Amino acid sequence: MESRQIKRGIYSVGAVDWDRRLFDSLIPLPDGTSYNSYLIGASQKTALIDTVDPTMEHVLLQYLDELDVSTIDYVIANHAEQDHSGSIPGIIDRYPEAKVVCTPRCKGMLIDLLLISEDRFITVGDKETISLGDRTLEFIHAPWVHWPETMLTYLQEEHILFPCDFFGSHLATTDLYVTDEGQVYEAAKRYYAEIMMPFRTVIQKNLEKIRGYKIDLIAPSHGPMYDKPQFIIDAYHSWVFCEPRNIVVLPYISMHHSTRRMVAYLVGALARRGVTVKQFDLTVTDIGKLAMALIDAATVVLGTPTVLAGPHPNVAYAAVLANALRPNLKFATIIGSYGWGGNAVEQLTALIPNLKVELLPTVLVRGFPREADFKALDNLAETIASKHRENGFV
Ligand code: FEO
Repeated sequence: MESRQIKRGIYSVGAVDWDRRLFDSLIPLPDGTSYNSYLIGASQKTALIDTVDPTMEHVLLQYLDELDVSTIDYVIANHAEQDHSGSIPGIIDRYPEAKVVCTPRCKGMLIDLLLISEDRFITVGDKETISLGDRTLEFIHAPWVHWPETMLTYLQEEHILFPCDFFGSHLATTDLYVTDEGQVYEAAKRYYAEIMMPFRTVIQKNLEKIRGYKIDLIAPSHGPMYDKPQFIIDAYHSWVFCEPRNIVVLPYISMHHSTRRMVAYLVGALARRGVTVKQFDLTVTDIGKLAMALIDAATVVLGTPTVLAGPHPNVAYAAVLANALRPNLKFATIIGSYGWGGNAVEQLTALIPNLKVELLPTVLVRGFPREADFKALDNLAETIASKHRENGFV
């Protein structure tokens, strides 16, 4: 594919990775991804904003060849993670005059991760600018989107924000701009859930910080650009500021149908009381879908059989994941079954210290559930529905 001009002298020179299906050896990518890189030409200097994953370095270099780029003065590293920084060594090798521009913290990380020589860096403070001649880059420190060293780059004259991962989406597409808002909303929400949600409160501050900037275009380093920026800014506002909704997320495993029967009963009991439930069989769950569901949920119910005296390992994994993602949950509980004993509840509870939740009564059943157990599940459904109502979760 050819590089594409966004504005006079500003080009998209990144790579679309249609076939990648896993990120960080953890995150499913059902729709692939892209590593966006932007070339900014100006009257005196040329800058490259972010590079690409090292597996796609040849694509970036080919674009620079096609555009006949003989000089790059600045390589702007908004973020040190290798899907954006991994081709910096190749770029500064080819362009020996190029300086890597980043936050002081990012400099240390790039030296550690990519062994870049210290004399290749220029570090910039918050709101510092670099003139390219008739264009000016402003650097906005925005830590924890999603590493501690992250910054955003703002092209002052054209009002373009280059936020790297912030506002991004794992979506491979030939479209330069968002064309299907529904599809991008889903991809961006998944992306937020998987890597941004743990830093929700810091993101609130970062959103406040960019409020004063006129932004005509958001050009992230994953997924299509937003020529209607308010779409993604509003979406982020709803994810980071809104109260949880009247939703229960119910990840579970069942080995011999006892827990499955309890899950089915509880889902029905909650639905009858007007509570939305999102049920996930962890043997087949896309963890991105589970993470997305946790953004809005008020309550998580973990369903587990007892295996070797503890929770099923897949349920323990879901608990560890939820604990790491730190969703805005308010309530949690555990349901499930056991054959002769064990301490699944204690072990699972110990895995979720980051969740600031009220623990609701658990329902643990020996063997297959009986009438009294269904009654206990009805009581649990009533408790959850009442808690949601009392808190105004709708
Ligand atoms: Fe897309 Fe945090 O790297």
